Amino acid sequence: KGPAVDTLKPLHQELERAVALYRQALRDNAEARNYLQTRGVLAAAIERFELGFAPAAAQFLTRNLGKSGEDRRLLAAAGLVSTRDDGTVYDRFRERVIFPIRDGRGRLVGLGGRSMDGREPKYLNSPETPIYHKSRVLYGLHQAREGIRRTGKALLVEGYLDVITLHQAGIDNAVAASGTALGNEQLELIFRAAPEIVLCFDGDSAGEQAAWRAVNLAPEHLRQGRLLRVLFLPQGEDPDSLVRGQGSAAFHALLATARPALDVYLEGLQKRHNIVVEDEKAVFLHHARALLQRLADPILKELYEQRVATLCGLRMARHPSPPLHQEP
Ligand code: UTP
Ligand code: MN
Ligand code: MN
Ligand code: MN
Ligand code: MN
Repeated sequence: KGPAVDTLKPLHQELERAVALYRQALRDNAEARNYLQTRGVLAAAIERFELGFAPAAAQFLTRNLGKSGEDRRLLAAAGLVSTRDDGTVYDRFRERVIFPIRDGRGRLVGLGGRSMDGREPKYLNSPETPIYHKSRVLYGLHQAREGIRRTGKALLVEGYLDVITLHQAGIDNAVAASGTALGNEQLELIFRAAPEIVLCFDGDSAGEQAAWRAVNLAPEHLRQGRLLRVLFLPQGEDPDSLVRGQGSAAFHALLATARPALDVYLEGLQKRHNIVVEDEKAVFLHHARALLQRLADPILKELYEQRVATLCGLRMARHPSPPLHQEP
């Protein structure tokens, strides 16, 4: 299954060469260093996260790494350059701060790049390649391994800068599902690293949607001993802005307010369906039972079925009812 390891190794190595060049380019570029300074990223974090800078030149990588035809083929296969219709090859990342992405084993698999002048897209990520599968990668997992092991907990946030600012503030168990909505594979990956996960999305409508999506994935992951909590940030804040504005103590205080994912799901359902009215209460019950039906842990299932029954003013059935339909 999949290509042999030794056909992938040259792609990891090509990314290593590109990142070495981007790191040197950051040391050489005052504007990029200044950008990171305005974002509060200190030298130690630049080193720890191997941050770099992709110069504006469209042939920066081709000039430095594309001497032979085989070299240029590697650059393309690693997702570092693209080819225009007229055959000219150009760098994917230009005039962007570079965030190298390593997998759980520490291998370089891709890059994220942020524009510094408001140009869209704000963040550009590597395309899917034989080594980069965005749904299976968590940004920062390599750097967070030790913090996750030490605390037995992991914190999942949205962005690259969120991870970096948190680590810089001593919260070194943070990772991000960068550039994609959190999926089942990423949730399983992070639960394999720690039994206790806190999801922390931005305090904006995108973050609220992401939280709803994530709690809908929860039941199959909540095997015995696992905790999945959701932390809501104040409107307009993300972990980076909050820690920078109010300090890590304020963030720790907020962490203590994280709520169980299933509570967040039930409260979200209650906002959508007014259970004071019988017909809407029925819709609420369909959705709630469909979710609880997916719980593998019988104790958790019983507790929440009790909760739903109480909410709806029902007497608890001796045997839980089957689900009527799944949430679409
Ligand atoms: P946000 O819009 O919250 O950005 O997107 P941010 O991380 O707070 O970025 P800063 O603070 O302005 O630098 C959250 C995450 O979504 C992905 C990135 O991984 C980003 O960190 N994203 C966002 C993209 O992949 N592309 C985009 O254009 C925007
Ligand atoms: Mn956001
Ligand atoms: Mn954000
Ligand atoms: Mn931000
Ligand atoms: Mn509905």
